[in-house]
Amino acid sequence: MEHFSVIQSLCRTGLETRDDRFRRQVERLRDRLRESGDEKAAGTIERLLKAATSKATLAPSVIEVSRSLVTGDELTANVHAPADRETGVPLAEVVLNPAAGRPTPIYDVDIEKALGGILDEWLKTEHLKAIGIEPSRSCLIYGPPGTGKTLTAFSLAARLGLPVVNARIDGLVSSFLGTTARNIANLFEFANRYRCVLVLDEFDALAKMRDDPHELGEIKRVVNTLLQNLDSRAGKGLTIAITNHEALLDPAVWRRFENHIRMTLPDALTRVAMLKTFLVPLTLDDDVVKTLAFVAGERSGSDLKNFADSLKRNLALGNSGASPPEVMTAARALLMRLGFASDGIGAARLFLDDEPGFVGSVLNSEFTIKQESLAQMLVKSQSTVSRYAKDFQTRRSTGGQVSHAE
Ligand SMILES: Nc1ncnc2c1ncn2[C@@H]1O[C@H](COP(=O)(O)OP(=O)(O)OP(=O)(O)O)[C@@H](O)[C@H]1O
Ligand SMILES: [Mg+2]
Repeated sequence: MEHFSVIQSLCRTGLETRDDRFRRQVERLRDRLRESGDEKAAGTIERLLKAATSKATLAPSVIEVSRSLVTGDELTANVHAPADRETGVPLAEVVLNPAAGRPTPIYDVDIEKALGGILDEWLKTEHLKAIGIEPSRSCLIYGPPGTGKTLTAFSLAARLGLPVVNARIDGLVSSFLGTTARNIANLFEFANRYRCVLVLDEFDALAKMRDDPHELGEIKRVVNTLLQNLDSRAGKGLTIAITNHEALLDPAVWRRFENHIRMTLPDALTRVAMLKTFLVPLTLDDDVVKTLAFVAGERSGSDLKNFADSLKRNLALGNSGASPPEVMTAARALLMRLGFASDGIGAARLFLDDEPGFVGSVLNSEFTIKQESLAQMLVKSQSTVSRYAKDFQTRRSTGGQVSHAE
């Protein structure tokens, strides 16, 4: 048939929209082709129809799913969050595209699984519906600073195709009696009205008020309001609270969250993956990246991002290339400045003060770095590196000075 390839493309594109009326027209085309005896073309159209059906059942669109689970008005650029009546400070920031300008988070296997589990509940609601249950709608993310908690909340929202109402704790907490509770109520009323993920960052700031003896009466009111409002959000959108100080949270507040995700410092493998990503556009040898991850030690994603950015700056200003020895020289110049070597122990300190000890401990670490790569990075002969490694073993077995690094 003339122009059949164009017709096929039209059908394929149209079927992706999952518009039932369009699908019916494609089915009509298949039937007409069959009636006219063009069995080959009819078969091709039939296959397109089948492919579109299985795609739709295997992977429901995120947007479709979130639409069925999160109702309410649509947030647009013209919708403004409510503000504190006395100070005029907005109680939240509306973020229509939570992925924009934010990197894709990188996680350890355990955290990836935990977050994947939450997303799965949202993407496979049919399975849950069958047993009369809904996906969970609340999540508390806690853990040390810079581990990607805020990034994760925004990334979850983006993966669900929902905008974020990001509460501003500075706007919510007021020194006027009763105003904090009223602000909380106004914030939740706003979030419940629109389709969104409500993010309560620095959540402990509300709980912290309990430390102030003058706030005792007020905090009771605030916590009660918070509890009532968290309950009022049941069945609406998704609520993510974030804190660095989970111990400060009221147990009753804690209990309101169905998921509790602890963000930890990244493990060795994840640190390497992070540095590799953060160092783009530099493409360094794997062993160089692993050595940098070893030198950095157990740091947060945010520290590693800073390390990678500083390295890139240093290399760019150094008017040199990014050969393994040049990268190591740049790293050496930065470690004190970034505070990585200030604690007196650890890989960074060894790297600066005790090269044989450093070589020994890096070769004994989980990073599996080759001796020849280390020799190249440190501009040493392979025999010297191998001797360092042997000395390290001897030092270790005789109880001499060894690495405090991993
Ligand atoms: N897991 C991660 N994956 C990718 N980048 C990360 C990760 N963790 C941290 N970062 C980097 O660090 C930056 C800061 O992360 P983020 O603000 O989410 O940390 P946080 O845990 O919320 O910190 P804080 O407790 O100080 O608020 C991110 O923008 C990103 O560049
Ligand atoms: Mg944060």
